[in-house]
Amino acid sequence: MGFNKITAAEAAALIQNGDTIGLSGFTPAGVPKSVPAEIARKAEKEHAEGKEFKVNILTGASTGQSCDGMLANAHAIKFRAPYTTNKDFRTHVNNNEISYSDLNLSNMATQIRQGYLGQVDWAIIEACEVEQTGGKARIYLTAAGGISPTVCRLARKGIIIEVNAFHSKKCMGIHDVYEIEDHPYRTPIMIMKASDRIGKPYVEVDADRIKGIIECNIPDEARAFKGEDPVTSQIGHNVAAFLMQDMKRGIIPQSFLPLQSGVGTTANAILAALSHDKSVPDFNIFTEVLQDAVVEMMLEGRVKDASACSLTVTNESLARVYDNIDYFRQHLTLRPSEISNSPELIRRLGVIAINTALECDIYGNANSTHISGTKMMNGIGGSGDFERNAYISIFTCPSVAKDGLISSIVPMVSHHDHSEHDVNVIVTEQGVADLRGKSPMERAHCIIENCAHPDYRPLLRDYLKLGCGGHTRHCLTAAFAMHDTLARKGDMRLTDFAEYVK
Ligand code: COA
Repeated sequence: MGFNKITAAEAAALIQNGDTIGLSGFTPAGVPKSVPAEIARKAEKEHAEGKEFKVNILTGASTGQSCDGMLANAHAIKFRAPYTTNKDFRTHVNNNEISYSDLNLSNMATQIRQGYLGQVDWAIIEACEVEQTGGKARIYLTAAGGISPTVCRLARKGIIIEVNAFHSKKCMGIHDVYEIEDHPYRTPIMIMKASDRIGKPYVEVDADRIKGIIECNIPDEARAFKGEDPVTSQIGHNVAAFLMQDMKRGIIPQSFLPLQSGVGTTANAILAALSHDKSVPDFNIFTEVLQDAVVEMMLEGRVKDASACSLTVTNESLARVYDNIDYFRQHLTLRPSEISNSPELIRRLGVIAINTALECDIYGNANSTHISGTKMMNGIGGSGDFERNAYISIFTCPSVAKDGLISSIVPMVSHHDHSEHDVNVIVTEQGVADLRGKSPMERAHCIIENCAHPDYRPLLRDYLKLGCGGHTRHCLTAAFAMHDTLARKGDMRLTDFAEYVK
């Protein structure tokens, strides 16, 4: 390779206070790890010398501890978008120390190109290989597509590449890199099924824009999710039974439709439950993150073809993918996030979307992001991209959180990510509320009787009787009584609506 080999510290030295950095990766998968950690160390040093040092971070989705965690702890982030899952980062965001903008992930690359997020100075990209062919360089990405093509093209000061030997060079060929055109020149994305490929297996750039290559060997930082438990496996069973019923009714074609499943413990368990249910036919996946459950399902042939943005799997599962790379290269395609999450494609393919909410209200609105309306959990991720455009949009959640102190079904969501107009079905371990074709009051009864925990059903029924009229019945002084009671007494079950009605 004729590239300039540098250390991570030398790369960090190139980054100036106020620079905007676009990172590869999507979730901790495929994120550069050595340079962000060095930038955090540089920030600590600069701060110790009384100098200002903060950067703006643009990513595909969340990152891991060596990026979001270390940079946030070093007070090195001025602005950050979009999704994150890091605990330390969350603490600094909820202390209002970081300007954090949460976006629908399909929009991230587009909004960068439109200039909404300022100019990109640097692209820092994790690769498994970089090849030079004449004046061009081919960057082979690792476990995620993210926003790499866009930030590589736009980075005005240059591109820094971490060639991470932890990722097998065998993963060359698993990506389909394609960037959509700017308006008014945008054309249709010609993907008709999960396995279609329309781009190149690498990101191509002018070779002289690569300012340095760092060689490293660092494992990915994806977290392992809690395994299935009786609640999540019951939710999975309820989702599977619902989908089978829709198939029998002819709503879902016999050949089935591609599935998307969100992130987290519940989503992982739902997919596992779907695969164990013999009445569910083998299916395709069109999603943004592939979690551990899907790797197994692909090897078993339960999932035929999968399209995703990232392999958000444990390192053990990643090794299984690399060990069986010929099979996966044939059946798995990793794409940039604006393609994996494209509303155009989700609608065309008729994707069935299944995402997890923190809470849903009795009319079908969903909160995916804010605990009690104020504290950021992770972000909206791709849930809005998929739910808004799905053939059937399903939200799942356990009916209660924190051992029953919190009901996930509430009179009014305390933060609003997905409106009733985009939510077809809510599923908890208690049952299924099919909201299609129902009026607000019909939806309310359906959700309370089918999804709310029995401990909370009387309270929610009482709320509906508070005597405030309207098409969507609400008593505005009592709409957040359950949240307020939780804040004051630590248990939503102690809610007395009488205190809130004037
Ligand atoms: N109020 C307060 N806390 C709540 C809550 C509520 N209504 N509902 C859940 N929680 C808490 C849980 O108790 C748990 O706390 P803990 O970490 O201290 O144990 C935490 O929130 C996570 O809940 P869990 O049931 O383990 O959720 P999960 O791993 O299935 O993740 C989301 C759920 C909503 C956080 C996750 O799916 C997410 O970030 N979604 C938004 C993005 C998205 O949907 N992306 C997918 C697009 S492909």
